[in-house]
Amino acid sequence: MATNVKPDELNYDHYETQKYDDDIVRSIPGHEELHKHIDQIVQRDYSSKDRLKILELGVGTGLTAERILRKLPSAEYTAVDFSEQMLAGARRRLSQYNVTFVNGDYSQIDFLNDNDLVVSVVGIHHQKTNKDKKSLFQKIYHSIAEDGSFIFGDLVTYRDPTEAALNEAKHFHHLVENAQDEESLREWAHHHKFLNKLAPLENQVKWLREVDFTEVTVLYQKFNTTLIYARK
Ligand SMILES: C[S@@+](CC[C@H](N)C(=O)[O-])C[C@H]1O[C@@H](n2cnc3c(N)ncnc32)[C@H](O)[C@@H]1O
Repeated sequence: MATNVKPDELNYDHYETQKYDDDIVRSIPGHEELHKHIDQIVQRDYSSKDRLKILELGVGTGLTAERILRKLPSAEYTAVDFSEQMLAGARRRLSQYNVTFVNGDYSQIDFLNDNDLVVSVVGIHHQKTNKDKKSLFQKIYHSIAEDGSFIFGDLVTYRDPTEAALNEAKHFHHLVENAQDEESLREWAHHHKFLNKLAPLENQVKWLREVDFTEVTVLYQKFNTTLIYARK
């Protein structure tokens, strides 16, 4: 098993959609700014194209998907998640769009090919080892059409120990400052300290290049939060 957690080990697996939505935006530094960058990429590179096929890995309650689908309402969208509770929220939020929901672990299932865009925001850090992360990048690369791309937002660390420590301190300070209440802070602090398996940003850029993405650009970085745009 390449994923380091089962869905019911994640604190938000039992959350109501509204609580998850409030908490994820508060607990991920730069969640809104990262999504503004995604809005821009989608508008710039995809809004003039039609018959788009999009695959999202870890759709959660559909916050990222909704922003993309508002700009690309006719896209054929496949949304994968291994938490039924999260998928229930996504089904409600995205009911007006052409979305196929898949309940499965994306490290285990096969992907459809010829996607114009693969998206994953804040989930791949649960791949257990560096090898597992790189294998997933390879599988993503092969599922993308010739001129397609991968929008990859995630929590990362850094090769340099001082950079890593400084950004981790800022990340946890953000959690303390922004948690809704003590109970939420307890759950998110535990999740981020013990369940997240962060890999260095520099390594992940290297692996994306090694699996053959030609243009790999870090578009956004705040503490441990990053957004990478990888074009085939
Ligand atoms: C933190 S959410 C992010 C959702 C959305 N992009 C956002 O920013 O609000 C990540 C989702 O990925 C799912 N996930 C994590 N690892 C997964 C895996 N290996 N297979 C399927 N879903 C996974 C989790 O269940 C969770 O719903």
